[in-house]
Amino acid sequence: MPDALSAGSVLMDLMRVVVTLLPAMTANTFAPFFGGGMPVDFGKARKDGRRYLGDGKTWRGLFGGVSGAALLGISLFLVLHITGVSSIEDSLWGPFPINLLLLILLPIGSLFGDMLGSFIKRALNRPRGKKTPLLDQWDYIIGTIIFILPFYPWWYDTFIAENAWIASLLFLAVAFLAHTVANWIGYWIGVKKEPW
Ligand code: CTP
Ligand code: MG
Repeated sequence: MPDALSAGSVLMDLMRVVVTLLPAMTANTFAPFFGGGMPVDFGKARKDGRRYLGDGKTWRGLFGGVSGAALLGISLFLVLHITGVSSIEDSLWGPFPINLLLLILLPIGSLFGDMLGSFIKRALNRPRGKKTPLLDQWDYIIGTIIFILPFYPWWYDTFIAENAWIASLLFLAVAFLAHTVANWIGYWIGVKKEPW
């Protein structure tokens, strides 16, 4: 019954969506471990003093976040292959070599969305680190979507087809919760200035 809709099948879809998107979800978790130094906007500001991105978006955080999350994703991809769960050709991230490209593009798109979020926050005159509900938790998803759009039909099969869209909607709640928990931990262990 490939099309049957049950709590179990939705849960399985949700697990698949979460694992597939882990390289996007974790990019901003890695960033604070590497962050610091030259900001991505090179410290530039508009005439009225509002920064473009702010000091919370740095080149080191960007490269560290992308590398850390891509390495995590590639490790996951290899573990799934070695344990026989999925093959290199039929992986969660599509066939080879598209899967490797996606594993790198997921964190790049994620941190692009994170910067888009900061750009909007600065334009709205919100200082770096100030709590901005929804944008703080979901901005990376917007960036991720933009970066995976060229990979049709992979994204359609993974996130939309055969009731997968239900899991994709539920993913928004999982992402919200994961972001909240991860940021409290980051704050607690001292790598983040604010717990959001
Ligand atoms: N970080 C970084 N470079 C990035 C993204 C994040 O250096 N491209 C680091 C910064 O040290 C940042 C921390 O990760 O302070 C947490 O990221 P985030 O919460 O996204 O940044 P904020 O400091 O809250 O800034 P903003 O208000 O722009 O979101
Ligand atoms: Mg923040």
